[in-house]
Amino acid sequence: MKQVKKAVFPVAGMGTRFLPATKASPKEMMPIVDKPLIQYAVEEAVAAGITDMIFVTGRSKRAIEDHFDKAYELETELAARGKSEMLDFVRSMLPRSINCIYIRQAEALGLGHAVLCARPAVGDEPFAVLLADDLLDGTPPVMKQMVEAFGYYHCSVLGVQDVPRADTRSYGIVASRPLAERVEQITDIVEKPKPEDAPSTLAVVGRYVLTPEIFRHLDKLNPGSGGEIQLTDGIASLMQQQQILAYRYQGTRYDCGSKLGYLQATVELGMRHPEVGKPFSDYLKTRRAP
Ligand code: UTP
Repeated sequence: MKQVKKAVFPVAGMGTRFLPATKASPKEMMPIVDKPLIQYAVEEAVAAGITDMIFVTGRSKRAIEDHFDKAYELETELAARGKSEMLDFVRSMLPRSINCIYIRQAEALGLGHAVLCARPAVGDEPFAVLLADDLLDGTPPVMKQMVEAFGYYHCSVLGVQDVPRADTRSYGIVASRPLAERVEQITDIVEKPKPEDAPSTLAVVGRYVLTPEIFRHLDKLNPGSGGEIQLTDGIASLMQQQQILAYRYQGTRYDCGSKLGYLQATVELGMRHPEVGKPFSDYLKTRRAP
């Protein structure tokens, strides 16, 4: 089985929950303290040994391409002002060995469709999918944990966590049986079930390692829940032919696609930030309610 060297970042969603902030710029460019969400996700992929970053983009997503591109004017300006530390920082954002590939999803037809758009760039290899609006804070980084699990079991691995039963409507939910510590064999997967219909409370989060056979299954799908081509439905179909595992990752997830999760991530990462962490923590301790 080949190693996981490619990652797909679907960034073509509408981001309606963050309007008007996402009207003209992508949700994935929203910063947590000083780094955009997409950069956290790319750094997580780099830490997992992934070298090819495939972004599936849509309208108003040029900012993502610009972010990972060389910024000649900015570099010249920083050099002229003698800001060498910032210059080094901007230049070393991504290791030289990393390739960035951009593919356009002409219409936001769903996450499954976005992943299918990456097929020509992925080819016949296992690959990771990272949803940048799920910020995963783990040591080791969560995708590294999952790529290791893939290396051991040689089958698709989905990142999962337990959620309150009342929240199952927001997730793909799996039925499973334990296989090893942190690892479960999936027996069923349902997209956004009502709490009373959910087969469990084990929810799929925005991290996947998939075998390339998923593309054939996505290709055959009709629109599912919400009129979209759902990745969950493709996975359910693939499961008829291949074992698929759920991996209870070690780490904390911030749902930065929601306002509350975004604010929580800002506070937690802000308190640990090397530059402002201390004064920000002091501020939180001493601030008085208005
Ligand atoms: P979401 O369900 O979070 O949708 O997509 P969204 O459009 O980004 O945000 P809201 O719900 O309207 O606020 C999950 C992931 O799938 C990507 C999104 O960019 C996000 O990373 N996606 C979704 C696509 O790339 N294309 C699509 O057609 C749909």
